[in-house]
Amino acid sequence: MPNALVAGNWKMHGTAASAAQLASQLARQWADADAAEVIVFPPAVHIATVASVLVESSVAIGAQNLSQFESGAFTGEISAAMLVDLGCKYVLVGHSERRTVFGESSHCVAEKFVAAQAAGLIPILCVGETLQQRQQGQTMTVVADQIAAVVEQAGLDRVCDGVIAYEPVWAIGTGETASPQQAQQVHQGIRAQLGDAGIDTSLLYGGSVNGDNARQLFGQPDINGGLVGGASLEADSFLNIAQQLIEQQ
Ligand code: 13P
Repeated sequence: MPNALVAGNWKMHGTAASAAQLASQLARQWADADAAEVIVFPPAVHIATVASVLVESSVAIGAQNLSQFESGAFTGEISAAMLVDLGCKYVLVGHSERRTVFGESSHCVAEKFVAAQAAGLIPILCVGETLQQRQQGQTMTVVADQIAAVVEQAGLDRVCDGVIAYEPVWAIGTGETASPQQAQQVHQGIRAQLGDAGIDTSLLYGGSVNGDNARQLFGQPDINGGLVGGASLEADSFLNIAQQLIEQQ
């Protein structure tokens, strides 16, 4: 059985004080780690603060990005080992904002995936098509190519050890969600691409997940959880989504 996961991507929001406050609300209110893993992804500068608040809680912590390089003269970058040192268990790799705004290629994303696993982090590989690609009927090809690029460098088994998040670009931060059927269709395609090795791989859906649509999305057979942006910035709405995931397991 794939693990049930609910991941909150805080993106570039919040101060140290607001991050600590949100983390402490989550730590107080979430104790059901056996039923689903709740993970937060604060901005990098707040990871240490949030990690200290979440110590001994049931909430895990991850980073939104990492360097593909191990160490050295890479100004402004943060290595996988540094993230482990801060207490991170997970890291997002290839989020669409990294791909589109910061120009990360699928090759670079694959290098980051490999670097994350080499340091002991669990990478959450983000994939998804743009609106134009969907309208042109390219959704499955785009997603399959993004995954294949990582399989080429990391190997299929290692990709299956990670987590894959399907986030259609047109659904991110727009309030527009893929229908449960649209999401399931892509998740089913990803599951088929991974084959037997991917039976236990957690596949998350992301893109305007909220308290109103989570239940139906999580009710789909190949959706094992969610990657949540806006609705993860408030403890009650985020944990409401996590609760709906548990009820659908
Ligand atoms: P929203 O939930 O705000 O659409 O963001 C989704 C996302 O990009 C999570 O990584």
